[in-house]
Amino acid sequence: MSFTKKTVKDISLNGKTVLVRADYNVPVEDGKITDDYRIKQSVPTIEYLLKQKCKIVICSHLGRPKGKRDLQYSLAPVANRLNKLLNHEVYFVADSIGKPVERAVSDLKPGQILLLENLRFYPQEEENDKTFAKQLASLADVFVEDGFGVVHRAHASTEGVTHFLPSVAGLLLEQEVATIKGVMDNPKRPLMAIIGGAKIADKIEIIDTFIKSADVVVIGGAMANTFLKAKGVDIEKSLSEPKEVSIAKDIIKNAEKEALKRPFVFFTPHDSVAVSKIDKTAKTRIVDWTAHVIATLENYPKRPPKHSGKLEKDEIIVDIGPYSGAFIAGSMQLANTVIWNGTMGITETPAIDSPIGPFAHGTEIIIEALLGEYGHKPYSLIGGGDTSAYVQERGLVDCFNHVSTGGGASLDLMAGKKLPGVEALQDKGRK
Ligand code: 3PG
Repeated sequence: MSFTKKTVKDISLNGKTVLVRADYNVPVEDGKITDDYRIKQSVPTIEYLLKQKCKIVICSHLGRPKGKRDLQYSLAPVANRLNKLLNHEVYFVADSIGKPVERAVSDLKPGQILLLENLRFYPQEEENDKTFAKQLASLADVFVEDGFGVVHRAHASTEGVTHFLPSVAGLLLEQEVATIKGVMDNPKRPLMAIIGGAKIADKIEIIDTFIKSADVVVIGGAMANTFLKAKGVDIEKSLSEPKEVSIAKDIIKNAEKEALKRPFVFFTPHDSVAVSKIDKTAKTRIVDWTAHVIATLENYPKRPPKHSGKLEKDEIIVDIGPYSGAFIAGSMQLANTVIWNGTMGITETPAIDSPIGPFAHGTEIIIEALLGEYGHKPYSLIGGGDTSAYVQERGLVDCFNHVSTGGGASLDLMAGKKLPGVEALQDKGRK
């Protein structure tokens, strides 16, 4: 059993006032929500609490308003969307603590829902301030943690509040932790991990974890540029993290050592797509690094490979190349579990007449392979953040086995770290 904390189903909630911590940190443009996956995933817990005739008070953060009231980060649009998704009235109060909030909560009747304004309008939220946590706790009889995306933060609404109220998990939190831990602890092998996105710094621990536990590790996205640099490729002005080159070298060395101990593949792109401007009309060129990436760290740069591709001075890398895509899709035919976090290239640039952007083909080939388009369909676990936003935008979110609502939280959980917002909840079996 991967989940050892009490959930809403383990305690009696009938008629109680319940404070639910959700993660409604969703993208909002001009007051409109552009991706409501996190809101949709919060619905089962709220529906369960409605059946228990609870008075439901929901709190969340949105964005990083830095402790100030900044209405571009208001949760008001979320109240409307939740209203539509639940087909049930959702009241909204323009603060998260204080008299108006206390009044709105005391006016609630069983089966009514109130959403509070962004918690991060107060600096005390991220400071995990005890008084702020106590004020939040005073609104309810029970605390339900269901914001999986934020449980890696020890904030007043995720950790502090649990010192003042009986605290249990919601159904989303339980499902996320049980699924991700279950796959990490006992994957159906071979296990393939595909890690992309921009920053190595955010993903060092997870890459280290997979070097120890996976059968194949693939590196893509802008992060791969730093690995290419570590291997001696001149990436010109392509996005990279020059300060992380030495870390990338260490990671490659570790991977090489692991491959001497057991059958293990660590793949960095063998080719890339390059353009001289990031634009939908840009002319793309494929650059082949094969000669570079098969040179080991030991013999490079003393003996630089002669026949490798080269970027022009004004070119930058925007996607993995077709050989790399084919390699990844091909190895996926042998994998039974694929864990994927991070897109392979720039997916935001729109195409002229296609739903697929001009630099999203590397990401798309992974999606096709994951969905079984080439014959074999492995179990698919998709880490949150940009990757889940992309599959949501493509209307494919329901086609995978599990698409996490967490970004940093899912990475921390996969890396085996303790999550403060989960640790603080009551253990199953405790009276
Ligand atoms: C997320 O989007 O990963 C969570 O909502 C946490 O947000 P934060 O990184 O701003 O704490």
